Amino acid sequence: METINEEYICKSETETKKLAYNFAKRLNKDDIVVLNGELGAGKTIFVQGIAAYFNIENQISSPTFTIVNEYTLNDGSSIYHFDVYRLEDSNEFISKVGTEYFDQGISIIEWGDIIKDILPKRTIYVNIEKDNLDFNTRKIVIKREVV
Ligand SMILES: Nc1ncnc2c1ncn2[C@@H]1O[C@H](COP(=O)(O)OP(=O)(O)OP(=O)(O)O)[C@@H](O)[C@H]1O
Ligand SMILES: [Mg+2]
Repeated sequence: METINEEYICKSETETKKLAYNFAKRLNKDDIVVLNGELGAGKTIFVQGIAAYFNIENQISSPTFTIVNEYTLNDGSSIYHFDVYRLEDSNEFISKVGTEYFDQGISIIEWGDIIKDILPKRTIYVNIEKDNLDFNTRKIVIKREVV
């Protein structure tokens, strides 16, 4: 196993969406994508970019109260959008949601570090960091394990 880190600077919401759109092209059918970053970092914006690639952008909202939203694509496959911000830990995730989703489609998990201990090795971590100087700039680091 080897860790690959890719680092990007996105100077606007549009640039972040474009990065996410291109990132989505490389996703496999049971990939898990974790989005970390403080409130307002741009996690949901990144999800919207992924969703644009899969033609479901207009349906995306944050699953703040439901924990997970499911989207069905034209080919019958699924995308699961989680927001685990309100969960205490992975035990609560297991009792309220379960890990069965992870094998059934592409999973995208906002605040995924909260349940990091139960996430598979194949999980891709996207970390979004605000810039101290520029309000519209983000540093985005994409980290994945490859064999
Ligand atoms: N380069 C950028 N990339 C992404 N968002 C940006 C950028 N510059 C400014 N923004 C703004 O930052 C905000 C990001 O909001 P978003 O809802 O995606 O954050 P979030 O990380 O999902 O927050 P929360 O934890 O509350 O769900 C948006 O208002 C967006 O317009
Ligand atoms: Mg969000």
